[in-house]
Amino acid sequence: MGSATLGVSDHSIPLPPERLRYKVAGTNSAEWFAKSGQMSVQDLVRALAAIGRSLEQFDDVFEWGCGCGRILRHLPPPNAPKRVYGNDIDEEAIAWVKENLPWVETSRTDGMPPLPYPDNSFDLVYNHSVMTHLDAVYQDAWLAELCRVLKPGGIITLTVSGRNAFQMFLDTLPADSPMRSFHAAKLHREGIDFISQDQWSPDFPEFYHTTFHDVTYVFNHWSQFFDLRCYIPKGALDYQDMVVLQKPNVGAVTLTSYMDYFIQHGKRNGTSEAEPVIAERRQQADLLLQLQRAAAELQHEQAKLRQANAELRQIYASRSWRLTKPWRYLGGLVKTRSTKPRA
Ligand SMILES: C[S@@+](CC[C@H](N)C(=O)[O-])C[C@H]1O[C@@H](n2cnc3c(N)ncnc32)[C@H](O)[C@@H]1O
Repeated sequence: MGSATLGVSDHSIPLPPERLRYKVAGTNSAEWFAKSGQMSVQDLVRALAAIGRSLEQFDDVFEWGCGCGRILRHLPPPNAPKRVYGNDIDEEAIAWVKENLPWVETSRTDGMPPLPYPDNSFDLVYNHSVMTHLDAVYQDAWLAELCRVLKPGGIITLTVSGRNAFQMFLDTLPADSPMRSFHAAKLHREGIDFISQDQWSPDFPEFYHTTFHDVTYVFNHWSQFFDLRCYIPKGALDYQDMVVLQKPNVGAVTLTSYMDYFIQHGKRNGTSEAEPVIAERRQQADLLLQLQRAAAELQHEQAKLRQANAELRQIYASRSWRLTKPWRYLGGLVKTRSTKPRA
């Protein structure tokens, strides 16, 4: 299977209905549905090539959030990985894939994990534009779940609406709108701008909206789950950014904190365009961690002081303490006299 044969439309496969096309592509256009599907396969091929890999090296390939198979329809046998899996929350879309792309093993799940697959099931997980619709809590749940079903050393590609998509969004707002600086500041401050006032509400579940990512958030936060291998600005349909990640290949790895993770792995192997930026972030994370630890220790000591004060107050307020006060006073006098140096 060479990459030149991938992404070639099979015209014998029917087009899904308009409604399903709209839900994955944001437009009813049949032409764009066909063309963009091929482009997404080429995006995937390019992303894998950037880390020295090719699609044919992967046997079990899973598309998370496949919708009605815009991409999967371009991966038919024999020019495709050995086994191809697709999953979505959309019952109608999955039913359509099941009927029309019979080589795909499908599953339908809810907005939150789990997926119906055992640990370490897939060599490659790919995805286009699902993280671009979830808030941070959903994202984290899915990062952990996708890590679970990926084999150690397996590759995962995810797309995000990064700087380019965010700028395009800002450009839709009037030049003098205060919302421009509001969103820019939010993205800068939080790393994610999750916007729930959008056009998706009638067609999608409550949790599904519009999310923009700052690149530093992806580097900092997603590195807690995966090794970041490559970040390609506009690497997905020349609009979203493509993120290539790898599940650490160390058997039963326990992903602890960001810093522990780096300490555990030391210098990362393989080349990555992200390397210098990761090093800088690592330093920042190190400082942040030290600050957090110092603050936590301070809080701990303050809590101990408060506890000791409360106990003392209890003792002073107790009846026995008050009743024995004269004896303590006398005892003090005796002690002072007996310790006075004799002339
Ligand atoms: C913008 S569409 C992209 C579909 C497909 N990846 C493509 O590029 O053609 C987003 C898809 O993610 C699905 N989705 C949203 N939340 C999901 C979740 N928590 N788990 C799985 N799929 C989800 C939606 O139903 C929808 O099909």
